[in-house]
Amino acid sequence: MDLGSEGRTSETIRLADYRPTPYAITEVRLDFRLDLDGTRVVAETLFRRRDGIAAGTPLVLDGDELDLAEIRLDGAPLPPDAWTATPQRLEVRTPPADDFHLTVTTWLDPERNTKLMGLYRTSGNWCTQCEAEGFRRITYFLDRPDVLAVYTTRIEAPRAAAPYLLSNGNRIDAGDVPGTDRHFAVWHDPFPKPAYLFAMVAGTFERIADRFVTASGREVALEIYVEPGRGARTAHAMDSLKRSMRWDETEYGREYDLDVFMIVAVDDFNMGAMENKGLNVFNEKYVLADSETATDADYAHVEGVIAHEYFHNWTGNRITCRDWFQLCLKEGLTVFRDQDFSGDQRSRPVKRIADVRLLKSHQFPEDAGPLAHPVRPSTYREINNFYTATVYEKGAEVVRMLKTLIGADGFRAGMDLYFARHDGSAATIEDFLACFADATGRDLERFKLWYTQSGTPDVMVSTHWDASAGRLRLTFDQTALPTPGQPVKAPMVVPIRFGLVGPSGDDLAWERVSGAEVAGDVIVLDGAHHEVVFEGVTARPVPSLLRGFSAPVRLTLGSDTADLLHLMSHDRDPFNRWQAGQALAMRALISGTQAARTGQTVEIDPALASAFAAVAADESLDTAFRALAITLPNDADVAREIGTDVDPDAIATAIEQLRARVATAGRATFRRIHAEMASSGPYRADAEAAGRRALRNAVLDHLVRAGDGDLAAQRYRQADNMTDRLAALTAAVTVGLPSAEDLLADFYQRFAGDPLVIDKWLMVQATAPRAETLDRVRALTAHPAFAATNPNRVRALITTFATGNQTQFNRADGAGFAFVADQVLMLDRINPQVAARLLSAFRSWRALEPRRRAYAEAELKRIVAAPDLSRDVADIAGRSLE
Ligand code: ARG
Ligand code: ZN
Repeated sequence: MDLGSEGRTSETIRLADYRPTPYAITEVRLDFRLDLDGTRVVAETLFRRRDGIAAGTPLVLDGDELDLAEIRLDGAPLPPDAWTATPQRLEVRTPPADDFHLTVTTWLDPERNTKLMGLYRTSGNWCTQCEAEGFRRITYFLDRPDVLAVYTTRIEAPRAAAPYLLSNGNRIDAGDVPGTDRHFAVWHDPFPKPAYLFAMVAGTFERIADRFVTASGREVALEIYVEPGRGARTAHAMDSLKRSMRWDETEYGREYDLDVFMIVAVDDFNMGAMENKGLNVFNEKYVLADSETATDADYAHVEGVIAHEYFHNWTGNRITCRDWFQLCLKEGLTVFRDQDFSGDQRSRPVKRIADVRLLKSHQFPEDAGPLAHPVRPSTYREINNFYTATVYEKGAEVVRMLKTLIGADGFRAGMDLYFARHDGSAATIEDFLACFADATGRDLERFKLWYTQSGTPDVMVSTHWDASAGRLRLTFDQTALPTPGQPVKAPMVVPIRFGLVGPSGDDLAWERVSGAEVAGDVIVLDGAHHEVVFEGVTARPVPSLLRGFSAPVRLTLGSDTADLLHLMSHDRDPFNRWQAGQALAMRALISGTQAARTGQTVEIDPALASAFAAVAADESLDTAFRALAITLPNDADVAREIGTDVDPDAIATAIEQLRARVATAGRATFRRIHAEMASSGPYRADAEAAGRRALRNAVLDHLVRAGDGDLAAQRYRQADNMTDRLAALTAAVTVGLPSAEDLLADFYQRFAGDPLVIDKWLMVQATAPRAETLDRVRALTAHPAFAATNPNRVRALITTFATGNQTQFNRADGAGFAFVADQVLMLDRINPQVAARLLSAFRSWRALEPRRRAYAEAELKRIVAAPDLSRDVADIAGRSLE
């Protein structure tokens, strides 16, 4: 039973209720005694009453499922009537008037901690996860981000079970415990930090060491800890770390500040990674990479997550959040920074397209459904449910827009001011925006709506071209649908980066513009309606709007097919070239879906079908871009675009038809490219080689659908790297080729001892768009490679089925929903965070056609009615039905 949330399931926390704590904590001394049968923690905390607080005000500390052994005040036992404690809370009735020490001893059972919050065990090692509210599962504390303290941590453990003892900061002492088989280490972190950044790790690892010299000449030891035997797979992570450290110096003037930076990779982890001060703990998925076991996409993810956690040292740790409503202050900003870094490392447009695809596939549906919330929410019941695409990805888009509006120099000046003003403290979105307003003199009041108003704005554009007057009129109308708690929306500040593409494909000049602020190549909309008139345009322009996806809006453009084809082959903004192709395909898919529902087929314009082969063959473009440009929208993209009364089977039919046309029209070109892109020489991981693989695998997908099925098996058997092997396997399984079963069996045998690779095997099977998939997924939950206690396995098999398999999760008989709901209820007993995340796969249920919608609703109601739900699952289920 989830004692942790008992009695708190309906408690709503509100931003408007924020008050500082009556007491501050200046120092913490932690003493961990790790044993195989349990852990004892002694926490000695120094409290100071804040100015203006009456002496004797009660001290109330947070706990979660704690087992209290002893409590002392300034070294002496406390009389029984001076305090009360439950597993969730400790209150000292009348604390002393002056600074006082509280010494609390708790007993923990990390072995049985399947929630993976607080102190837990993974692969025989001890590890902590404290963000957001895990520290209160270790000891009673003021567990909130605005309480910053200096930590000293002593760890003692049996030497054989834990040769490495790690915590935040610098190691100041270590040695044997005389007369025992135990040893200890003491760590001191001089930087005041909130409890969520605390970490402790102990266990058996392979350690990979390197060094970094900062811009000012300080030497920093770099250490990566992985499961023994996996060290050879850390080279890419270490290299990514060094490049991140350098990048933060050159781009933001930020240096690393401790003598050592450590990364520990663990197998059981709720999220991607965690930026604990000086001791990042990672899901091993984002550390380990080599050519045999990781795809090019995995390499990019490792680089991005390493950078993200490293960048948190300044945006998150040196400056943290005042409260959890401000989560985007560190997350949105840090995602923006890691995206920018990755753009610098590889092709910027390709990175941008990947980021926008992620935003549209994860954040747009969230913003359009019952779980919609502002980038900075104003209420929550369970903060772990707000580590969302909205806070992270839309949060990053908001920072990007800010930079677009004030320019690169203004942005850097604002960031410099932010670091200067707020270093060492806990800040808010208001503090952050004030730095940019003060540095540039720009009023950002209306811009702030991006943080407080949820929902994706719709921008409708109509174009009128008057050839004789040389005048182009663009009419913009901005609207937004209601979202939970926000029935009426105000117009946002929307930066539209643009160009007027002329007949030759170059951008046309103009003489005058009126109707909105236009700065350089950016039109700034800030009202519901604008008529922007360009004068002195000498040839017929095709407007290319929202270049680089300059704002997270849904832009609807009346352009005809010819204009989109023109942009697809000429726009000098690569993002909009890609976007034009996607828009064309989307139109065909939407009419195809309508036709499929009435048993008809639509004619597909031959010009469209062959346009994709033409981009594939365009050697002036980079290979990774060409690969993206010929990848058609998937069924989730189409479902999102249709938005209501969605029938996933009809969408799948339309996609099949369009794919077949594109593949047939392009077959000769695709075959030629497939041969040309074959790798010559040994495997290389760099961007150039990865681009060739991406293009070759994108054409392989088309060819397999056009009847060249043998190619998949052949490519699988010849593959000398995971990118090619997985692409071939996926193509074979998705299309249902006769070779698919053999290839799956071979893949399992090759990688049976390697859980991260077996996750790919689970994912490929979970995404197969076939009627037998549900039975197969159900059977796989009993496979020895699967473990319901391991979040990576659950995500690979079950979450992938629920979020990555439109036709089978949304089966017309409701069996997909019922299976996932059963899994949610089962997982809620083990790990509420993982269960709640899986449950959010239902978030678009209202967009389905009536029959499926009814089945989904019934499952959500079944969950809400189940006894002893965690606060995590109760919150998601409740909001989903609101
Ligand atoms: N701050 C981490 C990051 O880098 C995420 C940790 C969230 N963990 C959690 N249990 N909610 O994004
Ligand atoms: Zn983060």
